[in-house]
Amino acid sequence: MLSPQVSKALNKQIELEGFSSQYYLAMASWAETQGLNGVSAFLYHHADEERLHMLKLIKFVNERGGHGVVPVLKQPPVTYKSVKSVFEEILKHEIKVTSDINGLVDATLKEKDYTTHNFLQWYVSEQIEEEALARQIVDKLKLIGDDKGGLYFFDRDLETMAIDSEKEDIKSKNKK
Ligand code: FEO
Repeated sequence: MLSPQVSKALNKQIELEGFSSQYYLAMASWAETQGLNGVSAFLYHHADEERLHMLKLIKFVNERGGHGVVPVLKQPPVTYKSVKSVFEEILKHEIKVTSDINGLVDATLKEKDYTTHNFLQWYVSEQIEEEALARQIVDKLKLIGDDKGGLYFFDRDLETMAIDSEKEDIKSKNKK
């Protein structure tokens, strides 16, 4: 059974993961209007992943006798300065998510809730990967600078990454 404190903290995380999904969805839609099909495919996929992060938390809270609350939709920014600024915002956002996950882990230790602590380890690992990927992409964009040809190939690379991730998802769904 979840303590009220842990339950509240998990619901706060549900809200943040839900917002992450909205945020990346807004970025994906903006990128699509700019003709950046690879960037938008990557971001649409990323938005789906964040929704799954939220769903996994909702289900866990409910399984443990709490109530996973579906959060209100907050509108993310509609337009973005550049592709580089999009990924810089993603990196900043993911650093915040990591810090909130760490706070959550801390709360479970204070409450001696080792089951939730164990469950959260998946999020701890996921955050290492998400931050590393965002950092890697920001570094790539710094190298590209204002080179339009470079941006074209970058867009194609992200399209390949999005397709590969979709294939991985299908493979892991079929295994279940
Ligand atoms: Fe679910 Fe990117 O944090």
